Amino acid sequence: MGRLQYLGHSAFYLEGSGIRALIDPFLSGNPSASEDPGVRSDLNYIFVSHAHGDHLGDTVAIAERTGATVIATNELATWLGGKGLNAEGMHIGGRSKFPFGRVKLTPAFHGSSVFEGGKMIYSDIPCGFLIEVDGKKIYHAGDTGLTVEMTLLEAEGVEIALLPIGGYYVMDIDDAVRAVGFIKPRRVVPMHYNTFPPIKADPQDFAAKAVNLALVTIMKPGESLTF
Ligand code: NI
Ligand code: MN
Repeated sequence: MGRLQYLGHSAFYLEGSGIRALIDPFLSGNPSASEDPGVRSDLNYIFVSHAHGDHLGDTVAIAERTGATVIATNELATWLGGKGLNAEGMHIGGRSKFPFGRVKLTPAFHGSSVFEGGKMIYSDIPCGFLIEVDGKKIYHAGDTGLTVEMTLLEAEGVEIALLPIGGYYVMDIDDAVRAVGFIKPRRVVPMHYNTFPPIKADPQDFAAKAVNLALVTIMKPGESLTF
């Protein structure tokens, strides 16, 4: 059985056979974070959707401390590898087999950039992740607007879709509801809302609008579910 824990904003902990992973571990400076970046020592993977600070977050420090392998797009993985981390660079639409299951990178319509010494040193391409854990597929959309590419996910048989609902930078509630209609996951969990004033959204409104499309689970930071 797999376990998914919400850590606040777009950060999750994902556990199953052969995998103890963080996704988008923005914990320091995250007003909704349920834990400190130093609490987990037995991680083996970190998935990073893009380099914006509210997703890359504490990745470098956590990967340095735990030795976890970072999975990201090739450009971001190359930059992280240059910092001495174990990083595996895949790319959009690519699928690869890992000891725990397969991972596919999905399109995300958004921006991304890495800042170093106050300068933008490059822009990478953001992504989402389709991660197989114990034979079930978890889709973390990353930061994205609504895109028709999401219709391709229906054929994947997604068990849980983690979708941004906060608007402004990403899908708002109405677009996220349309995304649920495209993806047809068994369960959907909203994320990327209420952390900062521009992304204020009511998850109960999302739940009411998506109720006939999937099982909607609103997770409070720190809460877990099994699948
Ligand atoms: Ni972003
Ligand atoms: Mn974001």
